[in-house]
Amino acid sequence: MGRIGIFDSGYGGLTILRSIREKLPEYDYLYLGDNARAPYGTRSFDVVYEFTLQAVKALFDRGCELVILACNTASAKALRTIQQRDLPRLAPDKRVLGIIIPTVESLGSTSTGGNIGVLATEGTVSSGTYDIEIAKFFPTFRTVSVACPMWVPLVENSEYDAPGADYFVAKYIEELFSQEPETDTIILGCTHYPLLLPKIERQVAGRARIVTQGELVASSLVDYLKRHPEIESRCDKGGSVEYLTTENVDKFAALAGVFMNQPLRAGRIEL
Ligand code: DGL
Repeated sequence: MGRIGIFDSGYGGLTILRSIREKLPEYDYLYLGDNARAPYGTRSFDVVYEFTLQAVKALFDRGCELVILACNTASAKALRTIQQRDLPRLAPDKRVLGIIIPTVESLGSTSTGGNIGVLATEGTVSSGTYDIEIAKFFPTFRTVSVACPMWVPLVENSEYDAPGADYFVAKYIEELFSQEPETDTIILGCTHYPLLLPKIERQVAGRARIVTQGELVASSLVDYLKRHPEIESRCDKGGSVEYLTTENVDKFAALAGVFMNQPLRAGRIEL
């Protein structure tokens, strides 16, 4: 059985899975959330790499031909090493893709003034990946990145909708605008953040465009599968989704059901 694996530290990758399924409902998907060890955003390079590699191996073992790291932190800290060092010896015919490049590529059509703000986890910000990639694609653009360490815990603990979340939303948005008042485009560079979107939009109040990643990653996957028939032909089309978590399955299913807008069941996995 050839499936497409979607991996995140927790619930955030579901925002990517949802968009992917809207565009490509025919494929079989396996979602893995490492909720027991989330958040990854404050962890070191070595630990994020180690955890991500374990997850990729688990997804390969369960029949995934292609794995998407639906997590910016893992894409920033683990993707390149896995692609260059681990894949050739582990599974040379399988593929692992990240979500940062499709996000950066889209800036050509979204940014008007070339002043980009990146809101992401501490790990993604300190890796400098967005700054490096934006400079590569758009050398004249300026980038300011702000780490938002309180946002993932708000989502993982189902507090994203609560009034208390407003304080932390305002805090990081205003930090960004105080560093660069001319910011015209804000990348939500963490897959958990779209859950906070209504509050983020209220706080930004039209001062900048807000870029979320779901649709961008989904379109880029459509394109990838067209360009790689050797991978596409190994992905089965049964329209199924299976969910795995490293935490309690009932807790996962309850919140994941909100993300996916439908009731679901999950299985437990040890990594
Ligand atoms: N959702 C992940 C990301 O996109 C990571 C969140 C975390 O575990 O800190 O960066």
